[in-house]
Amino acid sequence: MEEFCRALPKIELHAHINGSISACTMEKIVQNKDDLSGVDMKKLNKWITSVKKGEKKNLNETFEMFPILHQLVTDTDTVSMVTYDVIKEFAEENVHYLELRSTPRDVTSTGMTKQSYVEAVLKGIEKAIKEDLNIIVRFLLSVDRSRGVDVAMETIELAKQFNSKSNGIVIGIDLSGNPNLGDMAAFVPLLRDAKKSGLKLALHIAERTDRTDESGLLLSVPPDRIGHGTYIHPEAGGRQDLVDITQQFNIPIEACLTSNILGQTVSSFDKHHFKYWYDKKHPCIICTDDKGLMLTSVSREYNIVANTFNFTKQQLYNISFKSIDSIFESDNVKDKLRHQWTILKTELGL
Ligand code: IMP
Ligand code: ZN
Repeated sequence: MEEFCRALPKIELHAHINGSISACTMEKIVQNKDDLSGVDMKKLNKWITSVKKGEKKNLNETFEMFPILHQLVTDTDTVSMVTYDVIKEFAEENVHYLELRSTPRDVTSTGMTKQSYVEAVLKGIEKAIKEDLNIIVRFLLSVDRSRGVDVAMETIELAKQFNSKSNGIVIGIDLSGNPNLGDMAAFVPLLRDAKKSGLKLALHIAERTDRTDESGLLLSVPPDRIGHGTYIHPEAGGRQDLVDITQQFNIPIEACLTSNILGQTVSSFDKHHFKYWYDKKHPCIICTDDKGLMLTSVSREYNIVANTFNFTKQQLYNISFKSIDSIFESDNVKDKLRHQWTILKTELGL
């Protein structure tokens, strides 16, 4: 099944660029970096060793790791390099459509601005396009919920600006960041405005069990896709009206199994909410979240789903094929991908 999951054509819709940096690319950054004094490499290496051993973390421990990755990626050349590497790695495991997301960042010491950060990501994407890696790449700008409304507004403005000048590469907004922080009531008008201007919205929702009111608020926007959605349904501590609104607007769920197990928001794979929504025939996409930090891949996530729920190869193919419906692209692109999938299906012996 492992081999089949790798050969299967796939879609990845929930991948944070810095969380997706592989150990190999990290090593490359370390070798190239003149000054590593500001990087807590000890903590990063300790994390990798402990994840390899299968040790679980909690959500706070996971969030402690992001500033360390950000200490590594401080200039535009590195941003372009990691973007390209992440795309290449997804392409190598037969991901043919990828939506990356990342938080624009300023770094005074290197002169990187939020604007040049976005340009650097686009440069990495352009390099991959030129190399014809057989992958379509789109980019969502991440609004970090912990950084307040003014920064959110700035990021949304940047997304609007790049949406009209990036040849359709910048297509929307992701709302992410530490779910313990930020008052989402203040963000809702901004998100509605972003949607009105034509940007697509993928919002991290219900990552914490005690935030049902906040989930209701964010679902009311409504978003075009839900990141995680771990505690939406009553069986997980959510509410029926949250399930109703998710179904009513048919909002796809980006399911990131390993990430939720490692972050201890789900106790075991068989209890993952992917199955709850799958059984309801609600659109669910298998995603990685932070493949570098979680030491996973989309193929591995498909394999986990297959092993946990006893799915056949045909069922896995159907999940992947159905994911095409949830991409932030035109019907034309969707049809092209469906055609590509149908051809590859025969090669897979299905
Ligand atoms: P970046 O935006 O490319 O720098 O990727 C790392 C960032 O993604 C983190 O600092 C978080 O803001 C966000 N992120 C990654 N994983 C998660 C998650 O599971 N929940 C919420 N935010 C996340
Ligand atoms: Zn995420």
